[in-house]
Amino acid sequence: MTESPHIEYVIRVPFSLRVFFTKNAFRVGNLLFRDLAYSQESGARKKTLFYIDKAVAASHPDLAGDIESYFDHYHEDLHLRGIYLLEGGESLKNDPRCLDKIYADIQRHCICRHSYVVGIGGGALLDVVGFAAATAHRGIRHFRLPTTTLSQADAGVGVKNGVNFNRKKNFVGSFAPPFAVVNDSTFLKTLPGEHLRNGYIEAVKVALIRDAAFFDWIETHADSLNRFEEAVMEALIQRCAELHVAHIANSGDPFEMGSVRPLDFGHWAAHKLEQLSNFEISHGAAVAIGIAIDTIYSTQMGYLDSSSAKRVLSLLTHLNFRIYSSVLEMRDDSGNPRILEGLEEFREHLGGTLTITLLKKTGSRFEVHEMNEELVLKSIERLKALAGSSRNGG
Ligand SMILES: NC(=O)c1ccc[n+]([C@@H]2O[C@H](COP(=O)([O-])OP(=O)(O)OC[C@H]3O[C@@H](n4cnc5c(N)ncnc54)[C@H](O)[C@@H]3O)[C@@H](O)[C@H]2O)c1
Ligand SMILES: [Zn+2]
Repeated sequence: MTESPHIEYVIRVPFSLRVFFTKNAFRVGNLLFRDLAYSQESGARKKTLFYIDKAVAASHPDLAGDIESYFDHYHEDLHLRGIYLLEGGESLKNDPRCLDKIYADIQRHCICRHSYVVGIGGGALLDVVGFAAATAHRGIRHFRLPTTTLSQADAGVGVKNGVNFNRKKNFVGSFAPPFAVVNDSTFLKTLPGEHLRNGYIEAVKVALIRDAAFFDWIETHADSLNRFEEAVMEALIQRCAELHVAHIANSGDPFEMGSVRPLDFGHWAAHKLEQLSNFEISHGAAVAIGIAIDTIYSTQMGYLDSSSAKRVLSLLTHLNFRIYSSVLEMRDDSGNPRILEGLEEFREHLGGTLTITLLKKTGSRFEVHEMNEELVLKSIERLKALAGSSRNGG
């Protein structure tokens, strides 16, 4: 402690991270949103501004009308200021103009800190709208309605938001717990199979680092998941969201001030793969490959037994994830493998020492502070061979 005269107070700000599960959130009679939006400070109607993922609006053509009717019906409690559509997907996070547009809407509609900004869409839209809401007026209450399995299970239920800068993932962003998350399973009905599957990977990830029984459950239900059976998908989403929220709340480091980031297991390679592929490889698909690399690496280093690694890779393949991509072979002008840049970028993003989560067994993780690059490359070679002998190469 410094000897210098100083003033110090501890500032405690309690946050609640709330995730609700429902169907048809904006059907008149479903009081969840009304009660959440209204009950905070009785009396005042809260101004609300909506942003909807264009693909969601296109596949749910009644959605905007339903929201209008809902706000009309509960007009004594709620006050709709506007509904805007935004192009969903990673291109939104790569578009520097999107923030200006949202800030301008917030200004024009006189949205204040006692108003709400609501995002309805995939993880990409929620990241952008969440960041705009967190920064306009230094923080506006923000509802998230995730519409993909990945965002209902992971991206939408956390405390982070952000946009890409110079094509670097999440380079600009903030930690800002949403006012509430509303997981409406009706949205998933229109999500294409590839994106439905993407959410499974974050469940596999969190099971691997925290919950062996959940990993067993996913293995047991892999066929049902491949058939996109509603009840099984909903159960997977709920457990995955629960594990994420519990980790954020209980890990002692919700805003990631330290260097340990277990929820990013498999993500150092994933983020680099997304970028190197010019975002042709989706987040979910990239995380599957990232998990495969770090699983094989865990075995190469002697931390994880090979039968557990085999189980992990079999599950990925069973769930129809590719475990290899030729993008892993990209090299820079000096001939260095570009995927390894992901390690330094990951360290930089976290700050401090490089910290990578690896596996000891299914459901149990630990951290290392350096990666043997030669063995990382060997792990990738091994994956290439394995993928070549299965149908899920790339
Ligand atoms: N903030 C976090 O903590 C966090 C965590 C994990 C991932 N992420 C981010 O989340 C993003 C990935 O999110 P995602 O997997 O949800 O994908 P996404 O947001 O890119 O959406 C995938 C595609 O599906 C469309 N779509 C969304 N919902 C739909 C629906 N119900 N019906 C039809 N089409 C629909 C979108 O328009 C988009 O084209 C990445 O940018 C990733 O970095 C953030
Ligand atoms: Zn992820």
